[in-house]
Amino acid sequence: MSDATPDTPPKVFFILGGPGSGKGTNCARLVEDFGYTHFSTGDLLREAARSGTSDVAKKIAEHIRAGRIVPSEITVELLRQAIADHPNPIGYVIDGFPRKADQARMFEEGIAKAKGILYYDCSEQTMEDRLLTRGADSSGAEKRDDDVAETIRTRFRVNVQECMPVVESYKQSGRCHVVDANRDRDAVYAETKHLFEQMGEKPLKP
Ligand code: ADP
Ligand code: C5P
Ligand code: MG
Repeated sequence: MSDATPDTPPKVFFILGGPGSGKGTNCARLVEDFGYTHFSTGDLLREAARSGTSDVAKKIAEHIRAGRIVPSEITVELLRQAIADHPNPIGYVIDGFPRKADQARMFEEGIAKAKGILYYDCSEQTMEDRLLTRGADSSGAEKRDDDVAETIRTRFRVNVQECMPVVESYKQSGRCHVVDANRDRDAVYAETKHLFEQMGEKPLKP
């Protein structure tokens, strides 16, 4: 039985940050330490783009290739389905979402209000360096077609124009914890874990 019913909304954390800021890297460690289910919104969209020849699959693939934001109805529906298919009472870390004001509204009004929100604050220079070398080190991250200079520029522009206003509004409402993501992996994760504990979350192993 899924916990994701209207009566018991899922416990959800949004993990935000520009492309290459380290969302996926930190979510993997949160899964290990706390037992959450992790959904990378970008991964769900890439999977949906690969899995079919429908118009929707093609539309998703085109948007990702160009670095633009996929229409929000598609993305929110994918997340709703993913949560329903993977019941986890411990909760969910959802990375790369919401990236637009209407996504935030649709999810929080229709699925669940986020229990916590983190924003990885990272310079474009650091993010670009990481994206251009993603897949080249031993971290397990995959090389991607959209990690090329021209698409990275579009993704940065979209980040500033569409995603940052969402972050700003969460910051103004006092719901968003900002983490300096320019630091090394362990420093960023130590602060991430600490913030989760401050939000009342319990690691699997004390
Ligand atoms: P995002 O999911 O935010 O796009 P990733 O977690 O995939 O970012 O990280 C992008 C790349 O940077 C990956 O190759 C990852 O191994 C690397 N990376 C992540 N965090 C750090 C860090 N703090 N310092 C150096 N490299 C990092
Ligand atoms: O987060 P990630 O870098 O994996 O996202 C890859 C792409 O997926 C984005 O550039 C965008 O095209 C799409 N995406 C989206 N809406 C989201 C998350 C990702 O359109 N909320
Ligand atoms: Mg990612």
